[in-house]
Amino acid sequence: MSTPHLDARPGDIADTVLLPGDPLRARHIAHEFLDGVVEVNTRRNMLGYSGHYRGMRVSVIGSGMGIPSCAIYATELARVFGVRRIVRVGTCGGVGDVALGDLLLAQAASTDSNFNRLQFGGHDLAACADFGLMRAIADTASTQGIGLRIGGVFSTDCFHGGDPELAARLLQHHIHGIEMESAGLYGVAMREGFRAVSVLTVSDHVQRGTHMPAVQREQGLSRMTALVLDSLLP
Ligand code: ADE
Repeated sequence: MSTPHLDARPGDIADTVLLPGDPLRARHIAHEFLDGVVEVNTRRNMLGYSGHYRGMRVSVIGSGMGIPSCAIYATELARVFGVRRIVRVGTCGGVGDVALGDLLLAQAASTDSNFNRLQFGGHDLAACADFGLMRAIADTASTQGIGLRIGGVFSTDCFHGGDPELAARLLQHHIHGIEMESAGLYGVAMREGFRAVSVLTVSDHVQRGTHMPAVQREQGLSRMTALVLDSLLP
C-alpha cells in the first residue's frame, strides 16, 4: 500500500503525524524525542519515522517546501494511511512586533496560492485550524509558561521577492507570520476531514532583515516540538 510519494507499509504510520518542512528536521525530531524509532519512508528522501512519545505512538515526516508538496503528503497520509491529526512544526518570517524565536499558533491561513480555490470551485476557502488542537496547544503552553501568539498567518508561493508591500498589508490585517504551507494543509484537512494545526517559530524578521542564529534556531525548534508533543498526549 505504498503511494507515489510514500513507501511506508500499512500500519507503519501512526494516526498522529508531526510535519516539519525539512526531512532532516524530521529525523532530528524522531531521534531527539521518540523511543523505538523506525524509519518508515525514504522515497524522494522525504524521511519519515514512527516511534513513541511517553507511550503515545506518533510519526514525523518531512512535508517539503510549499503548498503543493505539503498537500501531497497530507492527502496521502490521510487517504491511504488513515492519519487523523497532523501538526505542522515549522518556521515563519515575522512581521511587526514579533521577535525571533517567538511561537505562533496559526488559527487561520490566508494565501496568495490558488490551491484552495482549485479545490473549492473558485471560491475563497476560510482555511482554519482545528479548534481542539489549538486549544490543547494553547492550554499546554499556558501551563508550561510558554508564550504563544495566536492568530492568522500568510502562506506564500513566493519566498524570494513577491509583493514588496506584502508585509505592510499583512500587518494592516494583524497577521504576524509568513510561511509557505499552512493554507494548503488546512485546506486539505478540511476537505479530507482530519484535524490539523500549524505551530511556527519565527526564524527571521521580514521587515527588519534579521535571522535566528543556528544554535538559537535549533533550541527554538526543539522547544516548540516538545510543546506540541506534550499537547497531543491523551
Ligand atoms: N519561512 C521562514 N521564513 C520565511 C519567510 N520569510 N517567508 C516565507 N516563508 C518563510
